[in-house]
Amino acid sequence: MSVEGQEETAGRPPADQSLHRRAGGGDKEPLLEVQGLTVSYRTGEETRPALSGVDLTLHEGRCLGVVGLSGAGKTTLGLAVAGLIDEREARMSGTINFRGRDLRGLDETRLAQLRGSEIAMIFQDPMASLDPAITIVEQVAEAFRLAGRARKESRRLALEALADAGIPKELSSRDPYAHQLSGGECQRVMIAAALAGGPRLLVADEPTSSLDVVLQAQVVDLIRRKQRRSGLAVLFISHDLPLVASFADEIAVLLDGRVVEYGESRQVIEAPRHEFTAAMVSAALALAGGENAPS
Ligand SMILES: Nc1ncnc2c1ncn2[C@@H]1O[C@H](COP(=O)(O)OP(=O)(O)O)[C@@H](O)[C@H]1O
Ligand SMILES: [Mg+2]
Repeated sequence: MSVEGQEETAGRPPADQSLHRRAGGGDKEPLLEVQGLTVSYRTGEETRPALSGVDLTLHEGRCLGVVGLSGAGKTTLGLAVAGLIDEREARMSGTINFRGRDLRGLDETRLAQLRGSEIAMIFQDPMASLDPAITIVEQVAEAFRLAGRARKESRRLALEALADAGIPKELSSRDPYAHQLSGGECQRVMIAAALAGGPRLLVADEPTSSLDVVLQAQVVDLIRRKQRRSGLAVLFISHDLPLVASFADEIAVLLDGRVVEYGESRQVIEAPRHEFTAAMVSAALALAGGENAPS
């Protein structure tokens, strides 16, 4: 599946890129526009900011991959975009415009509403986000109820959404709990729940990092399918540059809280501008070469 994604990325005409990146022109307004975002956690001691002057643009139906090492600020960025940074715990500056409104100006009630409807977030560890005491069908049904659906309809929609996410009907009709599912199945349940409200933006923070490569590809494929069908925009956060490059339209590379590289996926992989990106690419190539080397 990731190979198929690679071909698609490679086949896209480069002109497309310059068009949608043209700032402020006659193009459609971006869904998400982050400008000058700086976040410093209030830890007592003076530390460098987790994010420094980050600028990003994401349009409807597109996927922006954010890659970087552990501690680079990826999760902080995802949380900020989902309106989940508590400004009492972190100093923030800059703007996070979602559909033209700055999320930083919204109160907690409005942010919570947005997260239940237009912005969805999934995390690395689905087991930590799923409730062990409630069946998975009930959890997805609850997401539909929160999105305003009637109780009875919600259960039917949950079963449909689970089937669509690759959880077979035979499994979900047995009403399993999360611990009775594999990690990959749990991540699909999370995705089904996250997409119940029909969001415009999905923030996925390392959604495949706890999965083996086959399940990784399946989860990526599921997200892409949803994206193509509904025009969903995806901010896909990962430490895995080759994985992200196989399907994201664009990639931003974070290094110590700064965006050091930002461009179309193919350009970032084939002609990285920053030495850190080049090092990431050659490390990935060396790893792939090692795996494929004849024994
Ligand atoms: N709640 C927090 N309080 C204080 N420091 C934090 C907090 N969350 C993250 N950090 C620090 O901010 C930096 C970026 O972290 P994070 O956004 O989690 O990076 P990543 O997801 O790329 O690993 C790290 O130095 C981390 O230690
Ligand atoms: Mg993280």
